[in-house]
Amino acid sequence: MEGVIDAPMRRLLSGIGGYDRCVTEFIRVTNVLLPERVFLRLCPELETEGHTLSGVPVYTQLLGSDRHALAINAKRAVAMGAPGVDLNFGCPAKTVNNSMGGSILLRDPDSVALIVKSVRDAVDPHVPVTAKIRLGYDDHHALPEIVGLIRDAGADEIAIHARTKFDGYKPPAKWSAVKQVMNVGVEATYINGEIWNVLDAGEARQHSGCAHIMLGRGALAAPDLARRILAAESDEMLALLPWEKVCEMVRQQFLTSDSQSPRHVGNRTKQWLAYLKRSYPEVPDLFTRLRTLHDVTAILHAFDEHLKCSQR
Ligand SMILES: Cc1cc2nc3c(=O)[nH]c(=O)nc-3n(C[C@H](O)[C@H](O)[C@H](O)COP(=O)(O)O)c2cc1C
Repeated sequence: MEGVIDAPMRRLLSGIGGYDRCVTEFIRVTNVLLPERVFLRLCPELETEGHTLSGVPVYTQLLGSDRHALAINAKRAVAMGAPGVDLNFGCPAKTVNNSMGGSILLRDPDSVALIVKSVRDAVDPHVPVTAKIRLGYDDHHALPEIVGLIRDAGADEIAIHARTKFDGYKPPAKWSAVKQVMNVGVEATYINGEIWNVLDAGEARQHSGCAHIMLGRGALAAPDLARRILAAESDEMLALLPWEKVCEMVRQQFLTSDSQSPRHVGNRTKQWLAYLKRSYPEVPDLFTRLRTLHDVTAILHAFDEHLKCSQR
């Protein structure tokens, strides 16, 4: 997820467990072959054979509309060690859509198919090529056609964010709208959207008919969500990680990644806390202490003070 789930976050989340796969933030492709340093910046895991420290594969996600450029960039990502390539047809951002990237392509299913085919043909047949879509652009009448074309173009998997571009991020996600494509779907279809807890995961599976789940913001709101969903599959109900433990993770994350960006010290931590607030009532206290701070020492002091108070 652009701007929020970067390599340090993937390392942390995959280390907690429950994940079979991660996908990078999108890499914007125009009409040129990107230098290797761009891939390494957004996917440093390429230096460790495309896996996180705990061994979870990280697919490189590309976003663009120039199929030749996407194909050569996919080839480069794979040559650098990407274990899979994911294509983004879901981004609703105006700036992205205005340059014909992301969800706007869903208005033209043939061009989506041509992109998938060009990328599929360009990379080793053993390397999965996957697609991330929404239900559609304005509505979901073209979903069966889109999914069928993506399948015919050779995609190995498809993840469906169960909202249209028009829906943005407005709840609810329409999990049941995905059911109509389960029989035309590709090998594996992933349901995505509004999965915040174990119960949602079960309902999303049931309503959509998808066996597989892709987590988005839910992974930030509860870092152990994937592990708890997996445990629930064998009827094991794990308790939510205690706040003290999660708070220490947030502090570590601040130290290892967020404190290193001199212009935006603390921004990612605050953004993560905004998601964690959904699961932990302790968050507002910490957030209030950090809100106006941009200095490493002051922020670490705020963490200490918060922990002292919450342990009382
Ligand atoms: C801040 C933000 C950044 C995102 N960046 C990406 C991205 O780079 N690639 C992608 O495929 N989806 C991206 N998404 C969409 C999520 O992957 C997911 O499809 C969406 O948030 C719906 O799932 P959720 O309701 O579980 O969050 C992003 C979403 C958010 C909120």
